Amino acid sequence: MGKTYKIAVFPGDGIGKEIVPQALRVLNAVASKHNINIKTADALIGGSAIDEFGMPLPEDSLNLALNSDAVLLGAVGGPKWEGLDYSVRPERALLGLREKLRLYGNLRPVKLFSALADASSLKREVIDGIDIMVIRELTGGIYFGKPRGIEKTDGQEKGINTEVYTTSEIERIARLAFEVARGRRKNVCSVDKANVLESSELWRRIVSNVHKEYKDVELTHMYVDNCSMQLIRYPKQFDVILTTNMFGDILSDEAAMLTGSIGMLPSASIGGDVAMYEPIHGSAPDIAGQDKANPIATILSVGMMFKYSFKLDGACSVIDTAVTRVLEKGYRTPDIWSAGQKLTGTREMTDLILNEIE
Ligand code: IPM
Ligand code: MG
Repeated sequence: MGKTYKIAVFPGDGIGKEIVPQALRVLNAVASKHNINIKTADALIGGSAIDEFGMPLPEDSLNLALNSDAVLLGAVGGPKWEGLDYSVRPERALLGLREKLRLYGNLRPVKLFSALADASSLKREVIDGIDIMVIRELTGGIYFGKPRGIEKTDGQEKGINTEVYTTSEIERIARLAFEVARGRRKNVCSVDKANVLESSELWRRIVSNVHKEYKDVELTHMYVDNCSMQLIRYPKQFDVILTTNMFGDILSDEAAMLTGSIGMLPSASIGGDVAMYEPIHGSAPDIAGQDKANPIATILSVGMMFKYSFKLDGACSVIDTAVTRVLEKGYRTPDIWSAGQKLTGTREMTDLILNEIE
């Protein structure tokens, strides 16, 4: 047998603690089927780490990630930690990992499983066949820009955040988008707010410059407000959507609903030596601990790990096919359930997917 892949596992908080162990069952099954050696190690991040160690991203957890081949993450956060200062909130763990692992590119594929067309709030003819890749810049923009903070001024307070992008930050994410588009339908729509923001004016200019190296790919530009409308009106027009950290956060939640549930969308964060894989949804404290969470987004994230970190496209397809079959047989977690379908919990949904794999 060849190399052993080391995977850092961070279940995090809320439903993260339920879906990650289930996704690991799939990871192990697919690894053994494809003769891949996997070694996993768990650590706490987010609220769970705050409770145990008083900080969201303990040094040991960060080091575990830095010394692994890939990271699998569940979700962080919950009402229990909402009152804390921003610098020590659970979300800092996620942002800290993105920053320290230099994960500037976030890939969020939005693909409709045809069996779920009726779970979407949009009409079947609008969404059938959609296959969009949202590429979100992940370590820049207003999430990380300085100055930031809340200042006291004369008699009131002032909250400050800064949207900032440099040439090199825009160039590398644009390159990633054009490269990904080359493996798809060769169409990039770059989304900005260049009619109002200087940072977007620069974004648009640099993306257009980089495009000169990728003339085989078609490039269009769109304002973010228009894009949010077009995603609902006619989503099939999109292949790759390239956008900033903040706009990508918002548009990817919106795009997720085209597929029926945010519980369906995986993601890969890449750019540094170690990539990170996580569902795009949050920790859903309202349903945590009840075996109700949809594990599919995390299971599909494991598929992306096989594809992007281990270059095993076949293992990724095995997972996608298994999920497709289970959905076609009518099994649904509560978030995608409708009358006449078979209701399953987190664990049973995973059992069914495993049956299709074995
Ligand atoms: C996401 C999430 C995070 C983000 C939060 C939890 C910090 O919404 O990954 O989309 O805003 O990036
Ligand atoms: Mg988000």
